[in-house]
Amino acid sequence: MSKKLSNLIKAETKRQQETLGLIPSENIASPAVLAALGSPLTNKYSEGYPGKRYYQGNQIVDEIELYAQEQGLKAFGLRGALSSVLPMSESKVSELKGLGNSWFLNVQAHSGSPANAAIYFALAEPGDTVMGQSLAHGGHLTHGANLNFSSRFYNAVQYGLDPKKDLIDYDQVESLAKRHKPRIIYSGTTAYPQIIDFKRFGKIAKSVGAYHVADVSHIAGLIAGGAHQAPFPYADVVMATTHKTMRGPRGAVIFSKGPELAYKINKAIIPGLQGGPHNNVTAAIAVMFEEMQKVAFKRYAKQVVKNAAVLAAELKRYGFALVSGGTKTHLILIDLKSKNITGKAAALLLEEAGIVANKNSVPGDEKPFNPSGLRIGTPLLTSRGMKEKEMKEVAMFMHHLVDLKEPAEFVRKEVVKLCKKFPLPYK
Ligand SMILES: Cc1ncc(COP(=O)(O)O)c(C=O)c1O
Repeated sequence: MSKKLSNLIKAETKRQQETLGLIPSENIASPAVLAALGSPLTNKYSEGYPGKRYYQGNQIVDEIELYAQEQGLKAFGLRGALSSVLPMSESKVSELKGLGNSWFLNVQAHSGSPANAAIYFALAEPGDTVMGQSLAHGGHLTHGANLNFSSRFYNAVQYGLDPKKDLIDYDQVESLAKRHKPRIIYSGTTAYPQIIDFKRFGKIAKSVGAYHVADVSHIAGLIAGGAHQAPFPYADVVMATTHKTMRGPRGAVIFSKGPELAYKINKAIIPGLQGGPHNNVTAAIAVMFEEMQKVAFKRYAKQVVKNAAVLAAELKRYGFALVSGGTKTHLILIDLKSKNITGKAAALLLEEAGIVANKNSVPGDEKPFNPSGLRIGTPLLTSRGMKEKEMKEVAMFMHHLVDLKEPAEFVRKEVVKLCKKFPLPYK
């Protein structure tokens, strides 16, 4: 590797070491996850699925992929089956008896957005109606946002939050579903601090004959750790990115209920959307699932939520307005209008002091490029070992910067001191 590149990697590692990462979709992968990512598994082409590959030499990769599926089902406590039981042709799938309620797991999607693309391909035809939460109200781009493939190729209907409480308006979801009869109803969010009622979504989807897809990218780790309601009893398909609260490599996994849906999803991934899986990522996903079954991970998930609750309470004490009044998850959405600073200006100010957050729309914002909110979360700081006491310090730093207009370099010194007490597990 050139000196230039190795220096850039060192510089980015140092940046991560010496800043407080508050972006709620970011986390720290363990050295074991990184070891799998950097392994020679990256050299192998494995188009297809275990036992059904287009290339030779895949015996070991087959074992790794099946092991990743097995560990994923275990990490979420699911009764399931491995993809190796699926037949070669669709007509034979219905002959598989007794597996209707078994969960199958696809670990090949290259990331969350392609995983969602595969789910649309599998469950709907271009032009069909699909429903999801609007971007301005906390949904993801791939849930039907303007400019995204999900609204260009499908007729996307969007639901949002109740304007009084900033909570998902389930009555609106129900009436839109009844009116538009979508093929798919997406639940799941990218900027929503409260618990999602998957049971209600499942009921609404069932009542109109739609598939319920739960996109739990943000909260998958909380679900596995028992810190958020699980969607599995109420969903047909569950998708999650692996690099957020699960602390894995960049990637995504798709759980589907029963062999018929699993067959459709597998076919949509390859040959529908992708070529070869990234086998190094598959192994890293298997490591992540192993780690998630440890008691320490359950403790971690609960601490993420406790830390967010303390951070939210402290911010409120300093007069910050929080969308929906607070948080029950890993994520906090701050409405900065009353502080007379935009989301962008606040994010830049915090960054100068070494606190990394992102600007975000809040309900009622009319200009998505100049939003009035800031999105923060606790998954990464909790992975560093920080607890309630440190969350109070983080809130105080924000108060000193935003309210007291203290010079960023003063706060920066305190931030570096705190970071040094809780180092990342890398050299
Ligand atoms: C709810 C949700 N779905 C999907 C995605 C897309 O994942 P990726 O960025 O890996 O494409 C994200 C990423 O932020 C997300 O929050």
